[in-house]
This record gives sequence, structure tokens and C-alpha cells, in this order.
Amino acid sequence: MRRPISSLIVTNMAETGSISGTIVVLVSGCGTNLQALIDATADPAYGVRIAAVGADRDNIEGLARARRAGIPTFVCRVADFATREDWDARLASQVAAYQPQLVVLAGFMKLTGEAFLSQFGGRTVNTHPALSPSFPGIHGPQAALDYGVKVTGCTLFVVDRGVDTGPIVAQRAVDVYDDDTAELLHERIKTVERQMLVDYVGRMVRNGFSVSERKVTIS
Ligand code: GAR
Repeated sequence: MRRPISSLIVTNMAETGSISGTIVVLVSGCGTNLQALIDATADPAYGVRIAAVGADRDNIEGLARARRAGIPTFVCRVADFATREDWDARLASQVAAYQPQLVVLAGFMKLTGEAFLSQFGGRTVNTHPALSPSFPGIHGPQAALDYGVKVTGCTLFVVDRGVDTGPIVAQRAVDVYDDDTAELLHERIKTVERQMLVDYVGRMVRNGFSVSERKVTIS
């Protein structure tokens, strides 16, 4: 019987068949979070290698950033498959080919499914531009403005079967200004988000981590 994702413990690389220090990053858009990771990996002391960048669409700046950095890329489009399950299984196999220790969703605007999570559940993280559990989904900054909160931020979490519901790795707060637009607020969040992502992905990969129920502990 498969263990629930929330009780998986990720410390043993041999058990996951992964290559230590290796990550795969999935993107859907402009890829500034990816760029922050690419820049960080230039320093060997960071201890992380981006083996590949995948996307659910072509012709995006995120893929161009990867190609400019000499990182292999792949595209897996939902529209090219008969079912969402077929897409998910193909995405999982494309990621698995690179044997990543950790999968990083950095602005990847698709929900992964059972096939993906059965292989990478417990070792896939996602970054979200709101303070979970508030404002899940794809319009986090606009939803925060609409609600009238005075503080929002970003959340790095371990992906589970829900929408932005997984165990929380890290969060950073960002003030909301009276004259904010969703675009301005999102850009300020992303500045903080990139630092958080680089910091915690590095620590998770270098040190290992465990997930027990909703608690994520970096070794
Ligand atoms: C980031 O702010 C990320 O949190 C968000 O998309 C942006 C991607 O920016 N993701 C979501 O909203 C997912 N719910 P980037 O492409 O410049 O890295």
C-alpha cells in the first residue's frame, strides 16, 4: 500500500533512485524564480545542479532562460494527450529521466496528478505568492488585494493533492500598500519569493529534509 505523501521521509537518495544535488524545475511563464536558481547554481558551494527545466507550454521566457544557461529543456503540453492522466504520467516520466533529488515547481500553473505524485510526492516543492492557507490558486496577489489584507507574502510548500495546501517549508511576509495594484504587489512578493526559494531549495538539497504530517524539518 502506498504511504500517504504527508508521512514520507526524504533522506535516503538510494531509495528514491535520485542523483544527489540534482533538481528539475518546472515552469509555465517568465521564469524569474528559475533565473534566481540558475544564478545561485553558478556557485559550487550552493550544492545544487539543475538537470533540466520542463514546461507545460512552449515559447515562454522560462524555457529561454534555461536554454541560455545550457540547461536541457522539455515541454509536456496537456493538449497533446488524450487524457489529463496520460499527460501527468508523461510529465512524471520526463522528470524521472533526470533522477532529481527534488522537483521545484516555480510558477508551474498546472496541478500534478497521481502518477506524478506517486513518484515525486514528498520531494516536490511549489512556491505560491500568498501566505497559505490564504488565497490559494492562480490569483494570489489579486485575491489578497480584494480581501483587503494589510500583509500578504509567499509560501514554499511540499506539494500534495490539493491546491496550494501542502506542508509549509517557509513563508515570508510582504506589506500591502494602500495604492497597490495586483501587478505591483506581485512584483514585490516575487522579490522576496526568489530569495526564499533559493535559500530553502539549497538547504533542502544540501542537508536533506523530512516531512511528517504537516511538519517539514530540514536536517
Ligand atoms: C510566482 O510568483 C509564483 O509564486 C506564482 O507564479 C509566479 C511565477 O513567476 N505561482 C502561482 O501563482 C502558483 N499558484 P516567475 O515565472 O517569474 O518565476
